[in-house]
Amino acid sequence: MTEQATRTAVISDLALGLARVTEEGAIAAVDWAGKGDKTQVDAAAVDAMRARLQTMAIDGTVVIGEGEKDEAPMLYNGERVGAGGVAVDIAVDPIDGTTLLSKGLAGAISVIALSQRGTMNLPIEVFYMDKIAVGPGAAGAVDINAPVADNLKAVAKALGKSVPDVTVVILDRPRHEQLIKDVRAAGGRVKLISDGDVAAGIQTALWESEIDVLMGIGGTPEGVIAAAALRCTGGEIQCKAWPRDDEERQKCIDAGLDLARVYRTEELCGGDDVLFSATGASTGEMLKGVKLFPGGAWTQTVVMDSRTGTVRRIDTTHRL
Ligand code: FBP
Repeated sequence: MTEQATRTAVISDLALGLARVTEEGAIAAVDWAGKGDKTQVDAAAVDAMRARLQTMAIDGTVVIGEGEKDEAPMLYNGERVGAGGVAVDIAVDPIDGTTLLSKGLAGAISVIALSQRGTMNLPIEVFYMDKIAVGPGAAGAVDINAPVADNLKAVAKALGKSVPDVTVVILDRPRHEQLIKDVRAAGGRVKLISDGDVAAGIQTALWESEIDVLMGIGGTPEGVIAAAALRCTGGEIQCKAWPRDDEERQKCIDAGLDLARVYRTEELCGGDDVLFSATGASTGEMLKGVKLFPGGAWTQTVVMDSRTGTVRRIDTTHRL
């Protein structure tokens, strides 16, 4: 076996381990469901995920984690995790939708992605990115710099539907007022979500989902994590830095960030071997949430592998 083939096999075999990481993150977080404390939701998931990651046969570097070391005691950016093994980059969002879970609402997931060392890239200077994501049917058809109406037409053509049948998911935020108007004016259908643009981006690539496109401004780390899943499914994401204010804009310029640069899927998450896992914390459209019962828990997880293009759903009963 060549070195590359060995690495591919080793990374592919990590899929179940990665599923365990998000399963344990989701199970730990639901203790805090509906308690109104998003910090505790996050902290519980971080704790559990880190403990599980330390048992995996990886030499992992957290590239996307809980922030810088001085503000995050665990899973901070740059932290080394794992028991030793193949060198990988890790992107983790312990709970995407902490607010949702803290309010007892649907759609919170625990997420992690892994790829060869040095292949994940995010513009850390900027908190938000403007995004457009589509599934494999419309990959290559969209352009983040094009007018909304043109993108809707392109997606409709690629998917063999008419524009009124194209569903665009958008985070329900005041900053998206114009975007929502533009999609509706072009004839498209808008599906507003209160949180969770990772799941929304991934759903564009799942055949069972009604979502065709994700558009709008969301978190930068979430863009990279969605890119990992879209690498596995053959979808596409394009992102552009979206500074919140003049201060952040200046910070980006000082750091040499090109604000016009379009980050494409492979630039956000490259390498040939990408793995992705998400477990439902609270039931949403993509995944059912954790169900606790005396002595155990039940979870639903989706695990993806870029090399094989497999998308596996794993329903698991856990003895706790
Ligand atoms: P967290 O659960 O990590 O807070 O993220 C939820 C989320 O909705 C993301 O999915 C999205 O990218 C981001 O927040 C949007 O940020 P904001 O709520 O500031 O608009």
